[in-house]
Amino acid sequence: MAQMYAMVNCFQYPRTSIRMTVNSSLDPKRSIPHHVELNLGDKTLDRSLLGLYAMNGGKGANSYAQNSSYQRGVVDAAKPLIEAEIATKVDIKQLSSTNTTPFRIADFGCSTGHNSFPAIQIITEAVEKKIQTQAQIPDFHVFFNDQVMNDFNTLFHSLPPQRNYHAAGVPGPFHGRLLPNASIDFAYSSCALNWLSEVPKAVADHRSPAWNNGKVHYTGARKEVFEAYSNHYANDIDSFLKARAEELVGGGLMALLVPAVPTFENSGTSYTTPTEMDLIGSCLVDMAKKVNFQYFNSQSKLAHLFLDLSKFCIITESQQYDIDIDQKKYSYGVLNLFLLQGILSEEQVDTFNFPLYFTIPQELKAIIERNHSFSIERMEILNNPGKRTLTSASARATYLRAVFEGLLINHFGTEIMDELFDRYTEKLAASPLFLDPENEKSIIIFVLLERKVV
Ligand SMILES: C[S@@+](CC[C@H](N)C(=O)[O-])C[C@H]1O[C@@H](n2cnc3c(N)ncnc32)[C@H](O)[C@@H]1O
Repeated sequence: MAQMYAMVNCFQYPRTSIRMTVNSSLDPKRSIPHHVELNLGDKTLDRSLLGLYAMNGGKGANSYAQNSSYQRGVVDAAKPLIEAEIATKVDIKQLSSTNTTPFRIADFGCSTGHNSFPAIQIITEAVEKKIQTQAQIPDFHVFFNDQVMNDFNTLFHSLPPQRNYHAAGVPGPFHGRLLPNASIDFAYSSCALNWLSEVPKAVADHRSPAWNNGKVHYTGARKEVFEAYSNHYANDIDSFLKARAEELVGGGLMALLVPAVPTFENSGTSYTTPTEMDLIGSCLVDMAKKVNFQYFNSQSKLAHLFLDLSKFCIITESQQYDIDIDQKKYSYGVLNLFLLQGILSEEQVDTFNFPLYFTIPQELKAIIERNHSFSIERMEILNNPGKRTLTSASARATYLRAVFEGLLINHFGTEIMDELFDRYTEKLAASPLFLDPENEKSIIIFVLLERKVV
């Protein structure tokens, strides 16, 4: 349990108004109400707006753009399959009769585009090759979709200057409708359908048999936890398919590259992406146990500090502080504040779960068949195609950081990220998952679907 002892004299922070009430007890068993309010001038801070699922934006050292060679490996591995399927399945008759309308492509979960652009190039070139002798080459219109918090600025800024298509962004969750009826000829999604729309509610509910305390994912957890995840996944994929069924033209194609595992058995000994998430979980648990003594009087840290107080407040000190700060009155004061606590609380770790699920081929096939809107034209396993792209433990840790940091910050705050990923790098470097790449059993399922004509 985190413990906090706060000693506040007075402080300065321009345009800041803070009222803090800390009720605390030295008896850790006593649960005493606590409350921290933060109002930074005219800015309202809403943690939910930080973006649960967006990858790290920009092009910096921890960005997704700089750390997604694994996902690029997936695109490269799928290239011959996509080309072959377009060569045999794109309907020239349909194209030549409607050659004034563009050929529309949508990428669902494109992130900042660095792997999306090569994928779109593969698709457009394959379509051009298929029709070049028999029909007029259409205009291509490409819709890049991702969550609203995705860094679309970097995406648009990075668009290839020589592209042969018109580009548009489509923000929003892909589990619902995003585009007009029967408007898309080719849908594509890579390394995105393992993300759930949210963490299954039961997993974070301490009254539920599926409560996942002490763990951050379903590997090695109770069967109820796993079932909550797998049911949620089935519903999410079904919603995704329903939405795409409305958006695709009859006979339209959809290529999905879905991160998965070969089997649900032996999850303890076969090393897969969920193993990496467990390693992050064990770092978080270690950090919750680490007792830390920190002394702050830095005014620049103030805003972060008070934001973070909201998560440290499982309080054990029996005093109460009521502080009202007005800029005029206290503008030359100094903050002295001690935190004696775990860097994280166990409660924080217990209430965090990764909203990701890694299916197996049979399960995905059954979900698609139950949906009835698409025929499965091809389904293949790509054996961990990006496996050899990340050769050092730190490169591999940064790859995961680029993917998960936004999600982790949303729950734990920014302050712990460096330490978390340092710890993770160490654990990963000693893990059989990293020591022998052959241990890693993650797969990508390639599925080519055709929208049934109704
Ligand atoms: C690992 S990245 C893959 C990006 C890109 N397709 C690639 O292959 O590099 C997963 C992407 O899916 C997006 N994503 C996850 N859930 C989503 C949802 N419900 N709606 C839209 N995008 C989503 C994430 O924001 C992220 O950009």
